[in-house]
Amino acid sequence: MMLLEATGVSKAFGGLQALKGVDLQVRRGEIVGVIGPNGAGKTTLFGCLSGFHRSDAGQVTLCGERIDRSQPHDICRLGMARTFQLVRPFQGMTVLENVMVAAMVRHPATAVARDKAAHVLERTGIVHLAGRDASGLSLADLRAMEVARALATEPQLLLLDEMLAGLTPVEAEQMHERFLSLRDDGLGLLVIEHSVPTVTRLCDQVVVLDFGQVIASGTSAHVLANARVQEAYLGKRPARSGVKAADEAGAAPGAVTGALT
Ligand SMILES: Nc1ncnc2c1ncn2[C@@H]1O[C@H](COP(=O)(O)OP(=O)(O)O)[C@@H](O)[C@H]1O
Ligand SMILES: [Mg+2]
Repeated sequence: MMLLEATGVSKAFGGLQALKGVDLQVRRGEIVGVIGPNGAGKTTLFGCLSGFHRSDAGQVTLCGERIDRSQPHDICRLGMARTFQLVRPFQGMTVLENVMVAAMVRHPATAVARDKAAHVLERTGIVHLAGRDASGLSLADLRAMEVARALATEPQLLLLDEMLAGLTPVEAEQMHERFLSLRDDGLGLLVIEHSVPTVTRLCDQVVVLDFGQVIASGTSAHVLANARVQEAYLGKRPARSGVKAADEAGAAPGAVTGALT
């Protein structure tokens, strides 16, 4: 059975059609990449899948259950967790406590949540940060904590929004390894990333969004050879007006050749 199956997902913000008829599937043990120019609708798609946005049309199932009219906390309990482009830790709390709050979704007793959170920190490779104040973390450590918080809800499917943007090559490699190990544990991963080399190495399948529509999907080699995809990325037309600045995480637009910003 498909872990996640979305068909015909559409979402408008006023007169702006942010998503139009998006189809997408994720299996267990698979990493699916969502790429597309800035403003293409990638984050909106995550919002619709995870219940933060109410889609206008379409159907989404997680492990066979309809979730497109469910609340975020119910979708989380069913097994989907997402990270945010802008990580907002609970200020004045340690990394362990931040992860404990997420663990309490399933384990309300403090002692149990603490054990679960400690285990997740180990699995994420950030045990050494447990006692640190979350508000003083570096970008890479914040991102790692964000992944840990998502994992602490014990998901089957993880939605990861630009977790590698702005990291140094060494930090990005660590995050990459983290994702592969989660995949090997049987989780499904849906990742928004904008560096072509990253997507090529990381993703089993790639879905390309442009102006809210899927313009190509399949293996990365198949997708990147597509003429429409190349046109969308190689600057052969002006960027969509009214979109946000390059990237909330701070990566420069087009900084890397072939960057899908
Ligand atoms: N909450 C919102 N209200 C109005 N417009 C939005 C909202 N969120 C996103 N948009 C618009 O929808 C489009 C898609 O945005 P987004 O999903 O953030 O793109 P991406 O993540 O691919 O860069 C953009 O034009 C953006 O300005
Ligand atoms: Mg985005």
